[in-house]
Amino acid sequence: MATTRLLANYQPFPFALTETRLRFDLAPVATRVEAELDFRALVPGADLVLDGAGLRTLSLRIDGAEPDPAMLHMSDETLTISAAALPEGPFTLSTVVEIDPERNTALEGLYLSGGIFCTQCEAEGFRHITWYPDRPDVMAPFRVQIASSMPVLLSNGNPVAVEPGLAEWHDPWPKPAYLFALVAGELEALPDRFTTMTGRDVALNVWVRPGDLPRAGFAMEALKKSMLWDERVYGREYDLDVFNIVAVDDFNMGAMENKGLNIFNSKLVLASPDTATDTDYERIEAVIAHEYFHNWTGNRITCRDWFQLCLKEGLTVFRDQQFTSDMRSAAVQRIEDVVTLRARQFREDAGPLAHPPRPDRYEEINNFYTATVYEKGAEVIGMLKRLVGDGNYRAALDLYFDRHDGQACTIEDWLKVFEDATGRDLTQFARWYTDAGTPEVTLREAWDETEAGGTLTITLSQDTRATPGQPDKPARVIPVAIGLIGPNGCEQRPTEVLELDAPTGTWQFEGLGARPVVSALRGFSAPVVLRHDLDETARATLLAHDTDPFARWEAGRGLALDALMARTGGDADAGTAYIGAIGGFLADAGADPAFAALVLRLPPEDEIATRLHDRGIVPDPDAIHAARESLASDLARAHEAALADIYAAMDEPGPYSPDAGPSGRRALRLEALSLLTRLDGGDRAQALWDQAGNMTERMGALAALVRVDRGAEALAQMEARFADNRLVMDKFFAVQPMAAAPARAVAVARALSDRPDFDWKNPNRFRSLIAGLTANHAAFHAADGSGYDFVADWLIRLDPVNPQTTARMVSAFETWTRYDDARRGHARTALQRIADLPRLSRNTSEMVTRLLAAGG
Ligand code: TRP
Ligand code: ZN
Repeated sequence: MATTRLLANYQPFPFALTETRLRFDLAPVATRVEAELDFRALVPGADLVLDGAGLRTLSLRIDGAEPDPAMLHMSDETLTISAAALPEGPFTLSTVVEIDPERNTALEGLYLSGGIFCTQCEAEGFRHITWYPDRPDVMAPFRVQIASSMPVLLSNGNPVAVEPGLAEWHDPWPKPAYLFALVAGELEALPDRFTTMTGRDVALNVWVRPGDLPRAGFAMEALKKSMLWDERVYGREYDLDVFNIVAVDDFNMGAMENKGLNIFNSKLVLASPDTATDTDYERIEAVIAHEYFHNWTGNRITCRDWFQLCLKEGLTVFRDQQFTSDMRSAAVQRIEDVVTLRARQFREDAGPLAHPPRPDRYEEINNFYTATVYEKGAEVIGMLKRLVGDGNYRAALDLYFDRHDGQACTIEDWLKVFEDATGRDLTQFARWYTDAGTPEVTLREAWDETEAGGTLTITLSQDTRATPGQPDKPARVIPVAIGLIGPNGCEQRPTEVLELDAPTGTWQFEGLGARPVVSALRGFSAPVVLRHDLDETARATLLAHDTDPFARWEAGRGLALDALMARTGGDADAGTAYIGAIGGFLADAGADPAFAALVLRLPPEDEIATRLHDRGIVPDPDAIHAARESLASDLARAHEAALADIYAAMDEPGPYSPDAGPSGRRALRLEALSLLTRLDGGDRAQALWDQAGNMTERMGALAALVRVDRGAEALAQMEARFADNRLVMDKFFAVQPMAAAPARAVAVARALSDRPDFDWKNPNRFRSLIAGLTANHAAFHAADGSGYDFVADWLIRLDPVNPQTTARMVSAFETWTRYDDARRGHARTALQRIADLPRLSRNTSEMVTRLLAAGG
């Protein structure tokens, strides 16, 4: 029976844990774990409750003596030692357990990945290793011994003695169990060094499997840049003698910030021009930074409980986004962040899985590592920074590090720091953390002309729809950045931030010469849906002249979405304004290729479906697909010459560099290719495939070829050349279901799933194929239900093996209720089949229950 955990039920742990000593005798099926925990009661008479799951307990002693068995109570996942068995002063609890890393396919706790012992303890994995208070507010220094014949033996902190067969590590910084890590295996290091701002020398290593060393260099460079950036921008220095990064192939998510020993999914470490795309390089840099930044925001200051997850994740995402905009282009970074936010978080907020950045209840915490906690958590910090100003933000962060170093904190602690540093009352702002749902902000304009000049009145109003468990949504404070653009295309005022803190608000702008075009929500100043009726001419003006890159991009996006929605509704010729405006834009596209690539990319089908649904229209996936295809073809036909020029001009000969400049030119070139393929049937794509000098060009060409069903030869060549490179073969498994025509995609996916190299227990491989298909909107939502069935079949197969990854992927169904009756029927049947499984994991059970509840 699932139990719901409530934020309101938080109780501090009644013992202090002063030191944790662990000894591991590693063996694949029978690893022995000895633990010595030094406790001291804080509340007299409290029982000691420890967490543990799947442990074979061999012994348990208190201060060296076995307690009376009547004093011990085991239940589902806890061991309770009666207060009566505990000494009054400090005592040491010693346990010996045996665990089985080899059969650990859930990849939680200690497991084997390709012969390498590794751990994943966030959020509640440590209880699979030993009996422990497995909660983030119990922090202790760790001493760890590892006995093993493996050549490389790593844990958190600093090495004390590393000899063949036995290594000892000491982590002096008190930390919760979720930050524990151990790695043992045949690994090779790319070594380097970093000197900190106070002159301390740190040894850095990126550990990979022998043979992968030539692909580790980029990750190391990213690490050094991150260390320097955190010193320069936040004044944060690294605090151990060593920093290790390890790449493993089997990993449930991207990477993990374990103290001094970050463990990564190998796809977020390994890169060479031949095997990784520009996007891969960009993600590697961002995730290396993210995990490194956690050293302060997450590790030195951690979370009191898992309801506070966005305290560390929202802030760390915000920091990694700042880092990427400093390393690359701030404009491109902002637009990409908005694209992801809308595609993942707005979608989540609008459906049955909606929850606030700080949830107040959960059954399985692993289901709350969501776009809302991460990406919306970051947006909320961006708003806070905008409201208090850059200087105040830095002052508040300094106070945060100062006041809370070494503590396990809450969102209230975080907000209090801002209140104390700035004097601002954040009571209303706090709703961003506690209330789910995306506010809709409506902007209305009124124009009044007198002799003295014109007056523009802007009225903003806000409304947030009910979300599961939260029927009422009081007004929040919403910063709306506004610019005014005159008829000549010039800015009439500096950008102004309007603070909407009531259901409606009104602002007047006086003394204007002529009626300006309002450029609203500049920089995407708040995570809201903006309703602003702008005509096509005004949008075209913004696309041509707006100095705010986000608003400029958004103007083009609005034109494209209007055209797509009209075409979906049967107006086959809609979009002249959009096509015309893009023509003007293309003339100057070379000025900022990365930005131009974003403007040229049509909105994804899922976003079109969302917009239709918002307007009360039941989205028809086939009509949406046809509309998008036809608009792309018309766009290509209208601008064939300009696109062909861009395609030629953006060629990047010479040695590959993943830097922002060259990768931006490749991005624009590949957008042009994608459009031109609709005219040349794939001739250019085939030519590019044949002479591609790097994986970015290769994947751009391949996706275009698969889209026009000309991919067979290229795919065969890819397989012949890269059969033994797992990361490249993951791309092979993803591109086909994703880019194939929707009518074929399910069959394509099914054929791929029959291949012997569809190693479905590997999360990367599973996700490549299954998420590749769910990303193909019209294929996953096929009218006959075949997409739903195929995905459900595989989720049913994966659940007993790997609940975490299964549950994450169930969210592909989160929009199921918005489609027509027939599709809803198929989706409900598929979800019900999952729900009805005997022994369904707690993870997946919570997800399907929440999804099915939305169906009424
Ligand atoms: N804390 C990690 C991060 O954001 C993510 C994480 C949480 C994770 N649980 C995990 C990673 C399980 C891998 C497996 O950086
Ligand atoms: Zn994180």
